[in-house]
Amino acid sequence: MLTVRNLRKTFVTPQGSLEAIKDVSFQVEKGEIFGVIGFSGAGKSTLIRCLNRLEEPDSGQIFINGRDITLLAGQSLREARKKIGMIFQHFNLFDSRTVWKNISFPMEVARLPTREIAKRVEKLLEVVGLVDKADAYPAQLSGGQKQRVGIARALAMEPELLLIDEATSALDPLTTRSILKLLQDINRQSGVTVVLITHEMDVVRQICHRVAVMEEGRLVEMGDVQEVFNEPKSKTTQLFLQQMIFNSKENDKNSSSAGIERAFGARSGPCEGAVLIGEVNRYAG
Ligand SMILES: Nc1ncnc2c1ncn2[C@@H]1O[C@H](COP(=O)(O)OP(=O)(O)O)[C@@H](O)[C@H]1O
Ligand SMILES: [Mg+2]
Repeated sequence: MLTVRNLRKTFVTPQGSLEAIKDVSFQVEKGEIFGVIGFSGAGKSTLIRCLNRLEEPDSGQIFINGRDITLLAGQSLREARKKIGMIFQHFNLFDSRTVWKNISFPMEVARLPTREIAKRVEKLLEVVGLVDKADAYPAQLSGGQKQRVGIARALAMEPELLLIDEATSALDPLTTRSILKLLQDINRQSGVTVVLITHEMDVVRQICHRVAVMEEGRLVEMGDVQEVFNEPKSKTTQLFLQQMIFNSKENDKNSSSAGIERAFGARSGPCEGAVLIGEVNRYAG
């Protein structure tokens, strides 16, 4: 469904140039939830923003359903973008618009008939569980409710591809779980293909089918979620794993088997406590 080949992106700033994406290639099947995990600054957001050309890649190809979107411009790019929904970490809602009006926005831009817009908004409000909040403004909503509006808005144009950039990073663990469950239900029911960016291993574990690990602009490993985390090859993957074991031990001091066995049924590696977290923090910036 999505094929990315030899993608490169360099930022040129007064301080010099920075290669944010270095020859990245991957493929995502239709209906798949594909995760990209990496620490802060790895290039995840740049990568996902290239997929809908919010960011212009320097070179490489991005095929969506067989069409190379790096070759599109003007009206054909706008048409292609309608089929790509995006969900952001900080929701990016219009504060002066109600929930209803936030969800209807992309459909207004696309000049859908008023009756069709109303029909879709009503349905989306049900899907995301916000029927009673239709007339509320974003300021009157919790973080989780705001993200539900962001999800409904991203689905409004019935996308074939959903890009999700750290959708739950601003949310507490309980809300995170309910948002991930919602995204999983949507994927199962609509068959929408999902590319999901995160720095949280739990997110990958909960809903991704496959995962790629990103480090300094490169995908350093890729595969089924279980495979990658059972046999971590890169330093970054090992750090994620150790971080999760550490977090799990912190949460559950009674259990010596910790989270990794619960998560994957795998053998657990050594946990070096504070030293490890120091290392993780250094990577995370
Ligand atoms: N618009 C920009 N101009 C210059 N540098 C940027 C820009 N956006 C991102 N970068 C740099 O590119 C690298 C990757 O950033 P980003 O894609 O945001 O990483 P991540 O989402 O994994 O945290 C970082 O070093 C960041 O500072
Ligand atoms: Mg980012």
